[in-house]
Amino acid sequence: MATLAFNHEEIAARELKPALLEMDGISRASVEAHYKLYQGYVNKRNEILGKLADVDLASANQVYSEIRALKVDLTFAVGGVKNHEIYFEHLGGGGGNPDAAIAALVERDFGSTEAWRADLKATGMGGRGWAWTAYDWDEQRLFNYIGDAQNTFPIWNATPLVALDVYEHAYFLDYQTDRGSYIDAFFANLDWAVVNDWISRYQIAA
Ligand SMILES: [Fe+2]
Repeated sequence: MATLAFNHEEIAARELKPALLEMDGISRASVEAHYKLYQGYVNKRNEILGKLADVDLASANQVYSEIRALKVDLTFAVGGVKNHEIYFEHLGGGGGNPDAAIAALVERDFGSTEAWRADLKATGMGGRGWAWTAYDWDEQRLFNYIGDAQNTFPIWNATPLVALDVYEHAYFLDYQTDRGSYIDAFFANLDWAVVNDWISRYQIAA
């Protein structure tokens, strides 16, 4: 029996916004190479779901089995897709302090923009892959989560609003090992209008 992914549809990589090729502090070469990695995550997501459609359910095993290997690595591929779609979508702006709804949420849940920024930067310095500002629907507040890979360590029922990629591929070309300067450049290129649009679309109450 092979029915696990019978109705999945292939997805295509989203186009890169032209503004992402004109940023200060994050070079065009770096973004173009980064975008290729994102395309790779999309392709692998499609490939894995295609293979799951034909997997042998009877051989499922926790030590090793096809279903285990495919489903574990699917989380890495899908994480890579989702993380980078947030990352690319909310860059290309003018940075500065958050405004409107995101400013109200940050002020309420972190006390100040400075405190939020310091916490997210430290989270990014402490992570091996990602740092996210996400809204937890159960606690009804923002928190800065840490990630070591595309698929660690999200929690259920939280929605990421800021996704800071701290994999070396995001900054090594521009900053070598100076991750802190890259994180500063990330903040300087955030597009708060995009984040506020998500808050409105998700109906997060500020
Ligand atoms: Fe990345």
